[in-house]
Amino acid sequence: MANVTVIGAQWGDEGKGKIVDWLASRADAVVRFQGGHNAGHTLVVGDQTYKLSLLPSGIVTGTLSIIGNGVVLDPWALKAEVEKLTGQGVVIHDENFAIADNCPLILPIHRELDGLREAAAGAGKIGTTGRGIGPAYEDKVGRRAIRVCDLAHLDALEPQLDRLCAHHDALRAGFGEPPVDRAALIAELKDIAPFVLQFAQPVWKRLKKVRKAGARILFEGAQGVLLDVDHGTYPFVTSSNTVSGTAASGSGLGPSATGFVLGIVKAYTTRVGSGPFPTELEDETGQKLGERGHEFGTVTGRKRRCGWFDAVLVRQSCAISGVTGIALTKLDVLDGFDVVKVCTGYRLRGKILDYFPSHAADQAEVEPIYEEMEGWRETTAGARSWADLPAQAIKYIQRVQELIETPVALVSTSPEREDTILVRDPFQD
Ligand code: GDP
Ligand code: IMO
Ligand code: MG
Repeated sequence: MANVTVIGAQWGDEGKGKIVDWLASRADAVVRFQGGHNAGHTLVVGDQTYKLSLLPSGIVTGTLSIIGNGVVLDPWALKAEVEKLTGQGVVIHDENFAIADNCPLILPIHRELDGLREAAAGAGKIGTTGRGIGPAYEDKVGRRAIRVCDLAHLDALEPQLDRLCAHHDALRAGFGEPPVDRAALIAELKDIAPFVLQFAQPVWKRLKKVRKAGARILFEGAQGVLLDVDHGTYPFVTSSNTVSGTAASGSGLGPSATGFVLGIVKAYTTRVGSGPFPTELEDETGQKLGERGHEFGTVTGRKRRCGWFDAVLVRQSCAISGVTGIALTKLDVLDGFDVVKVCTGYRLRGKILDYFPSHAADQAEVEPIYEEMEGWRETTAGARSWADLPAQAIKYIQRVQELIETPVALVSTSPEREDTILVRDPFQD
């Protein structure tokens, strides 16, 4: 199992960036395979904090970083992020960074449409990041997308633009918006094309070569299984498949390439945006989790909703995504609680459920059944070995792995790269 696939096992923001950065120094390539700049991955290395939305987290260690075809790419956001990181001393060039040339683009019209739809949806709004992710994926499956490789052929774009605009002009008219300004769009694309094209290539070929040489590939998921468009809390989800299997289709490698599936799991639960959240705490305890965990979105700055650990959801995510082992993050946030609670099942109209039902109304109605555990007074913050952990914290970890029926491979005890406990090396067989 030379490769590792990192995915979020909750509603995102589990600490994927930190774990990918920690693993990246031992990988030969890091690949993003879905999502776009709706992701916000924070890495803390010494006194430097890096916030990445589109670039794979491996870029900070200088590891070959690849944006796969499964990603939707906003070229202007990419340029801004490359410039920001370069300003922080990160070296990015065509040797250590590549973009799949068959990646669909997020255009300004996608961002506009995302905003128009959310504003019109009233109480039914998804609470998206407003980055145009949904509309861009719709155009991809609708066979109207403009892709990275098209940037090298902008003079031959008319038939595609006809298809794209026929769809968007009708939608825009419904919102009282003028038709797409084709000339302005082409001009903007011409302007950004050279920047993107310097990194563009058939990355499946590059990855094939990397794999043949026996190198280790680290796949970096964005969002989390509960935001998956099929398996998540539909319709309050993102527009991509966030499960581990997407690593293969979203990068151009076969399913055997995914290797060890490392599910990133926060020691409690958070969610940004609308949608059901059975263990949500709208009281002082929820407030305390949010403050201690600094639960504010990296991308939008929105306050994250907080609640106790939901073992039912994580067990389901681990099963759906074939998780081999988990990285349990933010254990330190639970330090100092007298009691910690874990959801072990749901009650729905008099029935006990051991899984999260599919229908939105049922999801909204389930009541969590809690198991209470004694907390710990000692600090786990900064712990780097099992021996540094208080007995009650160890009991908590053990109970979590029992309930989710998946072993713990790593434990994270602070935002800092090295504050990580290794239980089982995901790169090792
Ligand atoms: P991602 O989207 O999954 O990469 O997660 P985010 O970066 O959006 O959110 C996780 C936040 O928690 C970031 O601010 C991290 O720096 C921070 N973090 C990661 N691991 C830990 C941990 O073990 N303890 C604490 N206290 N913070 C952590
Ligand atoms: P990372 O990779 C948390 C949420 C949004 C919204 C829903 C749909 O940092 O874990 P979208 O803009 O994707 O159409 O929004 O998905 N969402 C995330 N929540 N972490 C993320 O990424 C997210 N990316 C999208 O808040 O509820
Ligand atoms: Mg995040």
